[in-house]
Amino acid sequence: MIFTIEQASEKHLHHAEAICNEMEASAKVRGTGIAKRSPEYLQKKMIQGNAIIALTETGNWAGFCYIEIWSHEKFVANSGLIVSPEYREFGLAKKIKQAIFKLSRNKYPNSKIFGLTTGLAVMKINSDLGYEPVTYSELTQDEDFWKGCTSCVNFEILLSKDRKNCMCTAMIWDPVEKEKDKRLKIEQKVLAKERLSRMKKKHSLLKIISLKFKKKSKTFFNII
Ligand SMILES: CC(C)(COP(=O)(O)OP(=O)(O)OC[C@H]1O[C@@H](n2cnc3c(N)ncnc32)[C@H](O)[C@@H]1OP(=O)(O)O)[C@@H](O)C(=O)NCCC(=O)NCCS
Repeated sequence: MIFTIEQASEKHLHHAEAICNEMEASAKVRGTGIAKRSPEYLQKKMIQGNAIIALTETGNWAGFCYIEIWSHEKFVANSGLIVSPEYREFGLAKKIKQAIFKLSRNKYPNSKIFGLTTGLAVMKINSDLGYEPVTYSELTQDEDFWKGCTSCVNFEILLSKDRKNCMCTAMIWDPVEKEKDKRLKIEQKVLAKERLSRMKKKHSLLKIISLKFKKKSKTFFNII
């Protein structure tokens, strides 16, 4: 099967309703809640270039995901991931998430990218992308984001836990932390290289000394 994965735009607007319907139907099957979105909302994401769509060879929609911006771009979320049921378990969600992650990094390089999910598949994909699990206090505190949870079946749990915890796992990709990790890895590599070169020098020095010693020993025995 061949899928095309691309940044959504005006030419995909006619898919919004079917995608929206599938989001709702899938949430019902899973028995979990989702932040309900209208076809118009998805269309807005397409027009803004803040969505990724996967299409089949015949031009049908196969998967979708969009970017949401919170706290004045301090945070972005890759939300509403959906793969049409007949195309699941082909690795499509993974490809869509990789594409939306890349788009998010290009458009919002300084934003922390986060997600809230109960889905094992999504946790797996996020983890492969380098997301780390965090507490809810590390996510955006933007009221509009949390309003999205009101349509979730677990909303009462979220309220009872004072918005500190719920059924979803929070995961984040923090560019500042990633930069620190990168720098630390480079520093460790440099230190390891220096240590290796010191050891090599020591080794060759020992070799020279032992050769000289052997030579002297030989000379001494020849005299005897
Ligand atoms: C969740 C969903 C997006 C996965 O789509 P998909 O294209 O089938 O996923 P992929 O084939 O890319 O699989 C990605 C990984 O998740 C695993 N996976 C897929 N479905 C899974 C499931 N139901 N349970 C556990 N793991 C699952 C795959 O084995 C794969 O792991 P691997 O990389 O170790 O092989 C799809 O089932 C869906 O649209 N579900 C309904 C909507 C939904 O739950 N969205 C997520 C909201 S947070």
